[in-house]
Amino acid sequence: MALLIKNIKKLIQTEEKPIRWRAGKDMQNLPCIEDAFLLTVGDKIADYGKMSDFSEDMLKDIKEKVEIVDAAGKMVFPAFCDSHSHLVYAGSREIEYIDKIKGLSYEEIAKRGGGILNSCKRLRAASEDELFEDAWKRLEEVASFGTGAIEIKSGYGLTTEDELKMLRVIRRLKEKSPLTIKANFLGAHAVPMEYIGRQTEYVDLIINEMIPMVASEELADYVDVFCDKGFFTPEDTERILMQGIKYGLRPKIHANELDFSGGIQVGVKYNALSVDHIEYTGDEEIEALKGSETMPTILPGAAFFLGMVYAPARKIMEAGLPLALAGDFNPGSCPSGNMQFVLSMGCIKYKMLPEEAINATTINTAYAMGVEEELGTITKGKIANFFITKPISTIEFMPYAFGSNKVETLFLNGARC
Ligand code: NIG
Ligand code: FE
Repeated sequence: MALLIKNIKKLIQTEEKPIRWRAGKDMQNLPCIEDAFLLTVGDKIADYGKMSDFSEDMLKDIKEKVEIVDAAGKMVFPAFCDSHSHLVYAGSREIEYIDKIKGLSYEEIAKRGGGILNSCKRLRAASEDELFEDAWKRLEEVASFGTGAIEIKSGYGLTTEDELKMLRVIRRLKEKSPLTIKANFLGAHAVPMEYIGRQTEYVDLIINEMIPMVASEELADYVDVFCDKGFFTPEDTERILMQGIKYGLRPKIHANELDFSGGIQVGVKYNALSVDHIEYTGDEEIEALKGSETMPTILPGAAFFLGMVYAPARKIMEAGLPLALAGDFNPGSCPSGNMQFVLSMGCIKYKMLPEEAINATTINTAYAMGVEEELGTITKGKIANFFITKPISTIEFMPYAFGSNKVETLFLNGARC
């Protein structure tokens, strides 16, 4: 099919040539076209430009029927890319959330067998079909807020069999969903109950059994480790990342959420695609990131929900680095996958300008999940993943009006969702 969206009040994030990411001051740059059209053919963006440059001649070679949509008063954005989620899980953890309200920290709750290990117990008891159905509903929910691509991690199974079960659910989601999905193997999310006190043996299991099996079934695109105080050490992380790389899995890791854990430096050393959370980022971490190909990624929803310190977003951008903002949908630290909320948080809590926050949730997260050549901007030849907003006054209105859904219609692969 083909689609002509005309009279678009503003077409956001148009790029003549594909870019890898936006960094530093350039994050304030957000190319847009006022009074625009957008033409898609099949699943790709075929053309776009000013309405005054549109002519019916542009449609004459298109063999498919062209559906016409009038977007007067509305804007068109590239769909959000969410480069960090734990969307496959069983049950919720609102009881721990009450412990949190009463003052217990994330680490204290984890030490009592709550946290990730609580989700682990539930996941082990759930069937693949149950996990798939729950995750499918969450995917529909994130799409309703404008997400068109999402990375999903394993990490609640923590046995070879249960990690494979999670990754097979992610594979089914990949096959069935119109969203672009990447899978990340996070066997090193926590030390499971049966290995407590024997952390090195659990790391051995990940290295010797899990990674080879995950790779032989081609179940993951990336390898992850929760490298932080009370979880996995930089030494554990190095061992796991080396093995992952040997099996073709590029690292993309959790780092520096709870302390200056050395996670960012380890991530950069092993050419991680991204280091995520990064609340504890100081001068040394920034120096390590400079000149690297690793995307620093902040997860505002988790910092907000857990009441953490906020990562130094401005300092990172002022150092000339790129910055991404992702969702972190999970039952413990962020029971929401709403990227419009992430965008608002970027502006409200991290003092990012709307243009910076939009770059951080589109092209920079596209890079952080390895899809920047196909997604993240409105560029000819890229996959036609975008949304039409409800009538809105300005770009700034998007982060400003936090909490309400400004997305009217999502199109993925050139088709209405
Ligand atoms: O990204 N920080 C580690 N992992 C998740 C939380 C997982 C959970 O609490 O279930 C996160 O925030
Ligand atoms: Fe996470």
